[in-house]
Amino acid sequence: MNAASNEPLMSGLLVVFGITGDLAHRYLLPALYQLERQKLLPDEFEIIGATRRSAEVPLLLDGIEAELKASGQTADPATLASLGRRLRIVTMDPTKAADYANLKATLDELENERGVCLNRLFYLAIPPQIYGPVVDLLGSSGLNSGCQHGAADSRLMVEKPFGYDLTSATELVERLHHSFSERQIFRIDHYLAKETAQNILVFRFANPIFQAVWNRQHVTSLTITAAETIGIEGRVAFYENVGALRDFVQNHLLQLLAITTMAEPAVLDSSHTHAEKLKLLKAITPIQPNEVTQRAVRGQYRGYREEVGNPDSTTETFARLKLDISNNTWRGVPVTLQTGKRLNERSTTITLTFGASGSSAPANTLTFRIQPNEGIAVELLAKEPGLDQHTKPVEMAFSYAESFGPAPQPNAYERVLMDGIRGDQTLFTTSDEVLTSWRIVDSVVKEWAKSSDGLIIYEPGTPAANI
Ligand code: BG6
Repeated sequence: MNAASNEPLMSGLLVVFGITGDLAHRYLLPALYQLERQKLLPDEFEIIGATRRSAEVPLLLDGIEAELKASGQTADPATLASLGRRLRIVTMDPTKAADYANLKATLDELENERGVCLNRLFYLAIPPQIYGPVVDLLGSSGLNSGCQHGAADSRLMVEKPFGYDLTSATELVERLHHSFSERQIFRIDHYLAKETAQNILVFRFANPIFQAVWNRQHVTSLTITAAETIGIEGRVAFYENVGALRDFVQNHLLQLLAITTMAEPAVLDSSHTHAEKLKLLKAITPIQPNEVTQRAVRGQYRGYREEVGNPDSTTETFARLKLDISNNTWRGVPVTLQTGKRLNERSTTITLTFGASGSSAPANTLTFRIQPNEGIAVELLAKEPGLDQHTKPVEMAFSYAESFGPAPQPNAYERVLMDGIRGDQTLFTTSDEVLTSWRIVDSVVKEWAKSSDGLIIYEPGTPAANI
């Protein structure tokens, strides 16, 4: 799927806005460490952490060490040291025009020292409400184009959620296009960069055994569940403004649905894949305002309001949508997307049930386990040994760990960063995809904002199916 994946990384400058934030701490810095450890970063590759807080490189490295420890790994001191040599901090308020002179001077100096232009990659790991102003300032300070030594690219990597609803996302698309072209913008959905998510396409299109049954004649339901045991991990301001629908459903889950159900692209490259995904997303019937109560469920874990210090909060930490894909392949197949925090387990799965619709005969299920225990399982009926004709559901399973070794490599953020550096947009979302996804959920966003009607308060540890 990723045509350029064996090409070496281009020399470059990575500017991370928000280097002291949660995203950088949990995902970006550990991913950079892993790339460094595997010697995948090119010699000429500098990382500039832009932050308004006070920060020091040794403290960032300590944070990486702690994060690795939390996942049972030991940091390699030589790798930390070499990563540390690439890192520098620029203290700046990214919403202040005057502060960009310092950033520009730092980038120019790094390029002047070498006498060449380096591709510049600006990573927005900052609150979504300041994406617009920051991108305007990258444009007005001239950082949206290469440098004075010749051709090099400037790219923008933007985290989700991209906008808060259809209107704000449309405005943001236009605003970013004033400073960066679509080719320069990399809208991140790290779920697409998970090995297991990419394997969905290989599984579907490289195995003829499943192709004939991938449609409404054989599939009787499709459910995507992303259950988390963690809560909001201190991200109070972020989560209060966002909630589960915007945090997970509008992006991660709709993208997983698109790659599970889209038609096979003529070529598995970026433009054909995006075109098929968009066709599929456009075939999903947007939920109408008068359907919200039947098609959407929201919940909030008990204790959330105390955690965020807002006794009246109606922000959902659980969301479920029932959707309909109105094309010839999927029309009438019930599709459920659901996600929640502080549930009973951490598990992201995509399950298709196969059977003749209306028949009471037992069904087969096929489950993609996106995480953990990454793999694919098919549930079949088998005859129990013995003289009787008793049948029993049994599992036929493929496990990444058994076939390819422990953790899938590279992890999602390593791939996000590598593809951004290479300029491969296959695993990023286009503006059309983002806006079409907002169109599907926009009425739910609006109806839920009107009142707290129907908000279910659930106990931490509840299974998704019980909400
Ligand atoms: C992020 C969400 O996009 O994905 C978080 O903002 C969530 O709320 C995270 O916890 C889950 O990602 P992963 O890769 O740990 O499943």
